[in-house]
Amino acid sequence: MAAVGSAVGLGNIWRFPYTCGKYGGGAFLIVYLCFVFLLGSTLMISEFVIGRRTQHTPVKAFQSLHPKKAWGLVGLLGLITSFFILSQYLVLSGWTTNYVWDSLTGRLAALGTDSGTISNYFSQFSTSAGRPVVFLVVFSVICLAIIMCGVQKGIENVSKVLMPLLVLIVLVLCVRSLTLPGASKGLEYLFLPDFSKLSGEGVLAALGQALFSLSVGMGVMIVYGSYMPLNDNIFKTAMWITACDTLIAVLAGVAIFPAVFSCGFDPAGGPGLVFCVLPNVFNSMGGAGVVFSTLFFLLLVVAAMTSAISLLEALTAALHEHSIINRQVSAVVFFLLTTAFGILFALSVGPLSNITFGHAHLTLFDFVDRLNSIYLPPICSLITIIFFGWVMPEADVRDELSNHGTLKIGYYSVFRFLARYLAPLALLVVLVAGILG
Ligand code: PHE
Repeated sequence: MAAVGSAVGLGNIWRFPYTCGKYGGGAFLIVYLCFVFLLGSTLMISEFVIGRRTQHTPVKAFQSLHPKKAWGLVGLLGLITSFFILSQYLVLSGWTTNYVWDSLTGRLAALGTDSGTISNYFSQFSTSAGRPVVFLVVFSVICLAIIMCGVQKGIENVSKVLMPLLVLIVLVLCVRSLTLPGASKGLEYLFLPDFSKLSGEGVLAALGQALFSLSVGMGVMIVYGSYMPLNDNIFKTAMWITACDTLIAVLAGVAIFPAVFSCGFDPAGGPGLVFCVLPNVFNSMGGAGVVFSTLFFLLLVVAAMTSAISLLEALTAALHEHSIINRQVSAVVFFLLTTAFGILFALSVGPLSNITFGHAHLTLFDFVDRLNSIYLPPICSLITIIFFGWVMPEADVRDELSNHGTLKIGYYSVFRFLARYLAPLALLVVLVAGILG
């Protein structure tokens, strides 16, 4: 359940709809689903195996499976990726926390159902210097408090109760969105693939989104694997997580796209999409809208928290394992660093938006968003899967997947083929093709 908590988060509700909208809808969805089930789940199983087998955090995990210490660099790259993902994640979590406040105080409801008014409100808020920073800090302080109290039990209980509740509210949203006038256009957009809209970059973005959403390719699942009970079935667990995560992303799509078209938003509207569309849906519910809106954003904050905590946990556990620094201090160190970077990224949306990178003139926020989805996790995943399929002793893999021979692993030959051939090849091709455009 803690790993479900890590996987389900803003990646499903915020990132999936906006990326799917940006890269063409239905065609993107199909490619995304292929990546999730063929590559993402394979990677998740691999990371769980590496983590539980070695009982170490990423760098030591790789090192303890091969005499060449350089393999530890893969773990390090994963941790660096986690660091940047967490810093950027805090920005979005801050926005979401602010939306809880705005729902509660009636500010969102007062915007009515005019898409222009709601979009203006979002862009004014997200480009300001005050509230995005304040709520970012509020969010990270709560995460720090939770992690300092010790992680597994709390997270697991929270995930067990609140995740199903989040699904329930997303279902209510789906019903409301589907009954808006002109909703069928949104369903067509999401489910009728038009492959002419899909670019090489779109395919790479689908891969990045699949990895981001499943929390793989950055070592977090290696750390959670090391916490996994020895009698748990790794394969089954990974399949459950993959299925839940994907279901929630698709449901988010069903909740968002009909409303996008019905209310006249642009599906390719970028990172603000969900923050503009959802208030519109809530406000069209009449008086109940305020209650649903507050509850929804609150649960989304909780979902974001279980994800952010998994990232902070991976960093904290790694620093603790590699030094004499204890867990509490390690957590504070990464809390301070990621919050500082997060504030910088939050400000780069507004006051610091004049600082840009590359010929595409990306702001720091957009640059880090690309780094976190398109480049770092796929690269890290590629090396991890090569290590897993070609370097790590096969006997260890079999033994770990079968819980020392006590479980049947009928799927093994297919899984082995995916891990050794299909996954590395596909990752390599998509990465090279996507980067070369
Ligand atoms: N998977 C999380 C989400 O969908 C984000 C995340 C990425 C969490 C990487 C941990 C590691 O929101």
